[in-house]
Amino acid sequence: MPTIKLVNVTKRYGDIVAIKNLSMTIHDGEYICILGPTGSGKTTLLKLIAGIIKPDKGEIYIDGKLVNDVPPYERNIAYLPQYYALFPHLTALENVAFGPLSRGIDVKEAYKISMQILEMMRLAWRARSYPHELSGGMQQRLALARALASGAKILLLDEPLSALDARLRVELRYNLRKIAKENNLTTIHVTHDQEETMVVADRIIVLRNGEIQQEGTPLQVYNEPKNVFVAHFIGESNFFDGFVIDVDQYGSWVQLRNGLLLRTNNVDRSVGDRVVVMVREEKSRILKATKKREEINLLPGVIINASFLGNFISYTILLDNGDKVNSKMPTINAIGKFSIGERVYLKISPEDLRVYPYPALGLYRELEVM
Ligand SMILES: Nc1ncnc2c1ncn2[C@@H]1O[C@H](COP(=O)(O)OP(=O)(O)OP(=O)(O)O)[C@@H](O)[C@H]1O
Ligand SMILES: [Mg+2]
Repeated sequence: MPTIKLVNVTKRYGDIVAIKNLSMTIHDGEYICILGPTGSGKTTLLKLIAGIIKPDKGEIYIDGKLVNDVPPYERNIAYLPQYYALFPHLTALENVAFGPLSRGIDVKEAYKISMQILEMMRLAWRARSYPHELSGGMQQRLALARALASGAKILLLDEPLSALDARLRVELRYNLRKIAKENNLTTIHVTHDQEETMVVADRIIVLRNGEIQQEGTPLQVYNEPKNVFVAHFIGESNFFDGFVIDVDQYGSWVQLRNGLLLRTNNVDRSVGDRVVVMVREEKSRILKATKKREEINLLPGVIINASFLGNFISYTILLDNGDKVNSKMPTINAIGKFSIGERVYLKISPEDLRVYPYPALGLYRELEVM
């Protein structure tokens, strides 16, 4: 059964620690997405599992067997590198059929399988073209098709859909998951695209500076980000800087700039703690300030910008305390309702606020994604 296990793996390049004492287990047939900013170690992690580079420390197991000294071609892995190479002198179909043929599959059958995969990658019509005759996105799909046809039970995909336009990416990510699940492949898919991970992954692993920040189902990671970094990296969030001024059995009060108060459901922090409070852009509501209201978490301010995002409109509100907040709502609910310069209230439910310890290096540093 194709399981992958890393135990305390470290990989250095000179002074740079690309992977830091990392442990993880990937189960048979699982579809994992690795997300993380540029330079966080995603490609290094795949290369370690593929066997292209060796760890400085730690063990890598495949199917329970220690593979630190097993060469790539004996690992039963199909690895699609971020910067892949195709066989330039073979046609698209021959490129894909290369794997099945070298496994000894009968020629007719090998070509049949390869055509089916090209079909799923929407490339069958270019089966006779050579790689240099294909566009960048077509070459990427061809490389992906070749990996899928290889017959390996483990798929390592480094940004496999990055060169494709939005519509095709949506279609192919669906096909990719389908092929992986139908063939019981264990898949690790590296991507920058958070929407892609939400759709394809059984489980997400978020990397930063070679360390795992959080792992969980897409829903868990989205709804309960473990820290400010994850909340910022996945989803659209607002962050407030404040101090806890009261804690009771059911929650706490946090004081923001200029005395503005927020009620939260968090009971994990203590009075006096400096904290960061987070709310997702789609979780706050804008209310007309036609009459004076006295409720908790009703923050007065002025709309200073509106960005049209297609399905959604994102309003920027300058709160009276000086903090700025983005609030997103479906365009259909927003049309003609609010205008720039209008005074409004922003309403946020206590259960939609997350409270984190103030980061050691400051909030600003935490929000720089590099
Ligand atoms: N061959 C190498 N020599 C020296 N440093 C390297 C080498 N390969 C990677 N690194 C460094 O290791 C760190 C992790 O790189 P890696 O390529 O794994 O990141 P990544 O998450 O894949 O980034 P991206 O999203 O840009 O592809 C980076 O700081 C990078 O500069
Ligand atoms: Mg990379």
